[in-house]
Amino acid sequence: MTVTPREDQPTSRITGDARSWWSDAVFYQVYPRSFSDSNGDGIGDLGGVIDRLGYLELLGVDALWLSPVMRSPMADHGYDVSDPRDIDPLFGDLATMDELIVEAHARGIRVTMDLVPNHTSSEHPWFREALADGPGSSTRDRYIFRDGRGPDGAQPPNNWPSVFGGPAWTRITEPDGTPGQWYLHIFAREQPDLNWDNPEVFADLEKTLRFWLHRGIDGFRIDVAHGMAKPEGLPDHDWNTNELLKNDDDDPRFNNPAVHEIHRGIRRVMNEYPHAMAVGEIWVRDNERFGEYVRPDELHLGFNFRLAETAFDADAVRAAIENSLDAVAHVGGTPTWTLSNHDVEREVTRYGGGPRGVTRARAMALVELALPGAAFIYNGAELGLPNVDLPDAALQDPTWERSGHTERGRDGCRVPVPWEGDRPPFGFSTSPDTWLPIPPAWTPLTVESQLEDVDSTLSLYRAALEMRANLPECSGPGIDWYGSPPGCFGFRRSGGLICVLNTTDAPIQLPPGTVLLASAPLADGLLPADSAAWLV
Ligand code: NOJ
Ligand code: CA
Repeated sequence: MTVTPREDQPTSRITGDARSWWSDAVFYQVYPRSFSDSNGDGIGDLGGVIDRLGYLELLGVDALWLSPVMRSPMADHGYDVSDPRDIDPLFGDLATMDELIVEAHARGIRVTMDLVPNHTSSEHPWFREALADGPGSSTRDRYIFRDGRGPDGAQPPNNWPSVFGGPAWTRITEPDGTPGQWYLHIFAREQPDLNWDNPEVFADLEKTLRFWLHRGIDGFRIDVAHGMAKPEGLPDHDWNTNELLKNDDDDPRFNNPAVHEIHRGIRRVMNEYPHAMAVGEIWVRDNERFGEYVRPDELHLGFNFRLAETAFDADAVRAAIENSLDAVAHVGGTPTWTLSNHDVEREVTRYGGGPRGVTRARAMALVELALPGAAFIYNGAELGLPNVDLPDAALQDPTWERSGHTERGRDGCRVPVPWEGDRPPFGFSTSPDTWLPIPPAWTPLTVESQLEDVDSTLSLYRAALEMRANLPECSGPGIDWYGSPPGCFGFRRSGGLICVLNTTDAPIQLPPGTVLLASAPLADGLLPADSAAWLV
């Protein structure tokens, strides 16, 4: 199926080398529920993204990554997919998606979307069939069903916990009404894990890949790309941590060697669409093992989360950068950078919150955008949004319930984007009843407040993105480190850009050169505390 351009349709302004546009792209992550609401139900949608494309063009991003918009009962806000080849009515329909692709391309912005191959929704027709058909059926073999342990099978098949809290297994009632088998769900119980040893599972993913690529999608973010394959026999494990998504490398739920054959299969399909790329969510610490995912016949890119986990400390940031570069260098891969996403605390808060958190986040934006490779900006980071301390009653993340109200979950970084005006919902929606409440104190953080203010975080991002796209100095595959005083670092991109970071409490002298951009005003030519600058 192809999208035939209408006579009056805008033409695509996508230019550049179609085979490698991702290698230095700036991706903007849209969390669709929280970006912009076009129909007044208080929840962001695809129509809202179309409405804001002008903003994204002005910001200067190269591509969008849309968190899941496929059909979903929304137990995990779209990461529980019941039909991977349709758009959820909450977000629009296939025609809205087609329109978004055409309109984004007309503005020179590529569109990539989330794919969730590790699990489906428990409302997916496959899972319903599996429940109805009973033990040993071919439909049950698409998932991971096992008999329980103990004399009456009342104990889960192994001791794995779910990432969201509680056991990773749920017992079902068989069609005849008796207590039955258990199924594996590494995430919520509404997200049963697929059995990747069953060839039907890959065949269906292939169908999904082709479905969206034919519609003009430029690539995918692959959810839990280090998951999918499970170890032989599903062995018990000696658990010492179950922090959300921050598994150890020896966690048997993730990073099993058979996953690489799955990625090779995905790549074989992707190679038929050379304009498109796949980036995997890979929570793997060991550099050697991380790099395996981005070998030339696997994923085009892998998310490296080291920067998103690092405190505002020059040595720690430098170590994160060096590690991220090392992780891909040994396989000739492209580095990636991200300061935050919809699963982690926003950087402003991670760096201490308040004005100081914003100052530091601005500095880190310049560090991120100076580095070689692909950068990912999470919606609202360009406005310097902090995490929000939401009241218990507002919390929606399944983690909150699953953990027995001990983990608050990720809602604090998912609060809707403030666009304009002086009170909630700040133009995000026409309804005051937004899916998560927006703090009234966000008036100075709206796009409208920041757009014309040359000192705003939004203006800093715009200037950095413009330079990154246009200056030859902001290019080149490598960086060299300068000798620097404690608490600071400087590196030179091979194209010539110098980036200096000062994480101390005092101003520092800059190296010789012309300052192009600084995250805070220089005082007497010195780079103030908690800031960064670009020089040539
Ligand atoms: C990772 C996604 O980023 C997260 O939001 C989701 O809850 C899990 N994968 C499960 O799909
Ligand atoms: Ca809506």
